[in-house]
Amino acid sequence: MSTPIDVATSVKIVAPKPAAEPKDEITLIANKWKMKRGSLIMALHDLQSRVGYVPRESAMKLGRQMGVPLARIYEVVTFYNYFKLEAPGKYVISVCLGTACHIKGSAELLAGMEKELQVHEGQSTPDKEYHLQAVRCLGCCGLAPLVSVNGKVYAKLKTDDSRHVIERIQIDKPMAEADQEELVD
Ligand code: FES
Repeated sequence: MSTPIDVATSVKIVAPKPAAEPKDEITLIANKWKMKRGSLIMALHDLQSRVGYVPRESAMKLGRQMGVPLARIYEVVTFYNYFKLEAPGKYVISVCLGTACHIKGSAELLAGMEKELQVHEGQSTPDKEYHLQAVRCLGCCGLAPLVSVNGKVYAKLKTDDSRHVIERIQIDKPMAEADQEELVD
């Protein structure tokens, strides 16, 4: 049955940060991609993986930091069906299926989530409380296997921790950083 909630180790997504570096997820994403040619799609993909969709405020901030006009960003997100402009659920649960997480059983975690929420990957619960998605490496493989909910990471999970994560979400009520004041300049 229930085991101690490993998610007590939950942490924010932490990419290796040099001393005077990024203060938030958008800055992290912009810094990661802005010097790479043709990287706007990858940056937007990164953003959506972390928060589940492309919020307008985040798109504006990302555009400013990458030197890309908002109109260009909207051209991209409206052209590709993959991108979502609205939150698909209050809590976007992203199960990492990157190599490190996969080796440590994240596919079983995902299956457990599907069972608990009674939705398939890529779907939202009828009440829009949860949206379940699989994502590729979130850049903190040392914490595998992990699940990110609105940018908050539940780390070093056991393969049968799905229910615990969902219970934990109701306690933590993680809000997408993109919805927080601090991400809006
Ligand atoms: S493989 Fe999951 S964080 Fe890298």
